[in-house]
Amino acid sequence: MAERTVNIGLSLGADICWPICYESLLDGLKLDFEHGSDRLRFHCERVTIEPFNLQQPVRYDLVIDRLTHWYSTSREWIKKAIVLNDLYVYNNPWSLQSNEKHTSYCAMMRLGLPVPETWLLPPKAYDVTDDLEATLRQYARMFSLEEIGAKIGYPFFMKPYHGGGWKGVTKIDDLAGFQKAYDASGTEVMNLQAAILPYDWFVRCIGLGPQLRKVNYDPSAALHDRYRMDIGFLPPEDASVLEDMTLTINAFFGWDFNSCEALARHGVWHPIDFANACPDSQVTSLHYHFPWLIKANLRWSIFCSATGRKMRRNLDWEPFYAVADRDLEPRERLREYARIAHERFETERFRDFCRTRLGHLDALAYDFFGSERMRDAIHQKVSALFPAHEIEEFTELFWHRVQLWREQEGARGDQDGF
Ligand SMILES: Nc1ncnc2c1ncn2[C@@H]1O[C@H](COP(=O)(O)OP(=O)(O)O)[C@@H](O)[C@H]1O
Ligand SMILES: [Mg+2]
Repeated sequence: MAERTVNIGLSLGADICWPICYESLLDGLKLDFEHGSDRLRFHCERVTIEPFNLQQPVRYDLVIDRLTHWYSTSREWIKKAIVLNDLYVYNNPWSLQSNEKHTSYCAMMRLGLPVPETWLLPPKAYDVTDDLEATLRQYARMFSLEEIGAKIGYPFFMKPYHGGGWKGVTKIDDLAGFQKAYDASGTEVMNLQAAILPYDWFVRCIGLGPQLRKVNYDPSAALHDRYRMDIGFLPPEDASVLEDMTLTINAFFGWDFNSCEALARHGVWHPIDFANACPDSQVTSLHYHFPWLIKANLRWSIFCSATGRKMRRNLDWEPFYAVADRDLEPRERLREYARIAHERFETERFRDFCRTRLGHLDALAYDFFGSERMRDAIHQKVSALFPAHEIEEFTELFWHRVQLWREQEGARGDQDGF
């Protein structure tokens, strides 16, 4: 029997708290088991940034990446490692780079999901390039904001077509506001989207492989209060629709880790922002839900790297299109998409792996999230974000919420069945 050390790399940016927890728990799990003809142990380290020869080997089996969406050196190293060295990475860097929020709207419309009416506008201003003038003079058509505004109907939202972090998002209530926001948008290409207002629910559904967590979300609250702490707040059928929707989106785009925002009105769930493939993972925003994320991330990364699961390097949309073109009633159709997603995420094999190899994670996590090391991880993150006079107060607040998770969920083992 060959002994093999599975090496997991963390490709990090400003992340502070979650890697500390991830590393501590991976270490604490003391994994040592047989898989096929190998005896596996696990090691984890942080990926460094340095020059690389395209032919040099890669020492990782799997990389959890948090940099690809903005740091091109790491992105290109990751692409090289996938193409040349069979590395498993989440998320798929090509999918992340090329499928913006706008593309995700188009795709989900094609699959028949109720995305609100959405438009795309040419930008208000341009960086001057050689062919710009000739191109615009010949082909750019004048358009009327008044007409477009009337077609969509007020209020609507103006937001950058690639999305992210609330930057440049404006609620438009009338023509004057539309004109003002467009004038201020500069070179940014904008989507306009009919508002789902008022809504009955705003839920953010986080997906990590087939693991899902639905969070009641309040966008009007302060950053540390947006993720509400209620659990089991949705009727089962609503929860199931949201789960199937999230699985569909994530499997379609090859995003192992993503969060999907949907708004419910009159019993219909409208996805409005579901291209968040570098989801917020900080204790300062997730607090109560943070332990779930760490556990889900551990389970999925250990499963993928231990079993040699093959990364899907190319997206394959055809099976989804085939379902879309069948004569199915919407709920049934969504179930069919989710079935493809479960196949792609190997839900049953994963469940079995968690049961047989990671049964001790729950008890370990329960202890860890109540430890001094956890309190210190919170303190470090809070110190990096908050003014000096608020550090103790907010460390205490987030610590208290994590302890609430321990009492309500951690003590009972896993709630999601994995
Ligand atoms: N169609 C919509 N209906 C209602 N609210 C919306 C809509 N689109 C965006 N919003 C509001 O604007 C916020 C930011 O928009 P979102 O699309 O999530 O952008 P970002 O990618 O920056 O998070 C949302 O959290 C929500 O509060
Ligand atoms: Mg959003």
